[in-house]
Amino acid sequence: MTSLTEKIVVVIGGSSGFGYRVAQLAGMEGAHVILAGRNKARLDEAKNTLAAEGHAVEAIQLDAHDLQQQEEFFKRLPPFDHLVSMVGDVMGGGFLEADLAVIRHVIESKFFSNVRIGQLAAGKVRAGGSLIFTSGTGGRAQNACASYVGNLGINALVEALAVELAPKARVNAVSPTWTLTPFWRDVPKDDVAAIRQRFEKSIPLQRIASIDEIANAYLFLMKNGFVTGQHIAVDGGIMLGA
Ligand SMILES: NC(=O)c1ccc[n+]([C@@H]2O[C@H](COP(=O)([O-])OP(=O)(O)OC[C@H]3O[C@@H](n4cnc5c(N)ncnc54)[C@H](OP(=O)(O)O)[C@@H]3O)[C@@H](O)[C@H]2O)c1
Repeated sequence: MTSLTEKIVVVIGGSSGFGYRVAQLAGMEGAHVILAGRNKARLDEAKNTLAAEGHAVEAIQLDAHDLQQQEEFFKRLPPFDHLVSMVGDVMGGGFLEADLAVIRHVIESKFFSNVRIGQLAAGKVRAGGSLIFTSGTGGRAQNACASYVGNLGINALVEALAVELAPKARVNAVSPTWTLTPFWRDVPKDDVAAIRQRFEKSIPLQRIASIDEIANAYLFLMKNGFVTGQHIAVDGGIMLGA
């Protein structure tokens, strides 16, 4: 396993949830971390907390849905060793009743934003580095609609980019299933509790993941130099059909 000491790790979506913990764990291993996210207050708070803990950290405001902003962001970035993307909006439900505009938005967000991130990151990632995207598991097409399509898109993207970028850099994805993170901050508490219960029943391991269990998968993919083109499910076996 390679060390992260003095490596530059970019986390798009590093101000909250999985991405924040990835940034913190990389910082604890001696990486210089660059966080990106849309909400300035959240980004500053994450940066200040990590800096107060003694980590080398900077923050750049970015809405990765805006491809012009992406161009400017990548121009500002120094060459880096690892890039993690947490970008991807979600939707639930099937296709029959879904609004086409919402389907389009989710696929734009989850797939096309990340395709562009991959294209731009390819020119900046250093030899021996990696790109890590975020896919997802747990839903089926009939109840996760464009999120399901977006996740399949990410899985295809990492397979293609892994070949296109080899041997210079590796490309992988982590696939979490439903996990309690700030992602659900705007959903009423009772609804969150009900969803959690539903997942705990359908996951063979009968619990949800901790944020650490997910974040550590990104760290593993940064440090193991022989894994590429993979989408690693950290989901308690939810897709095994128990
Ligand atoms: N939690 C789950 O249950 C779950 C399950 C499966 C997959 N996932 C996926 O895992 C990823 C991270 O989820 P999380 O639970 O850690 O969510 P979170 O706590 O809301 O964190 C998401 C991070 O991404 C940033 N972000 C989102 N959209 C962005 C954009 N367009 N441009 C730049 N930054 C953006 C957010 O900051 P701003 O909002 O300030 O931009 C935040 O820093 C998401 O792609 C999600 O779909 C989550």
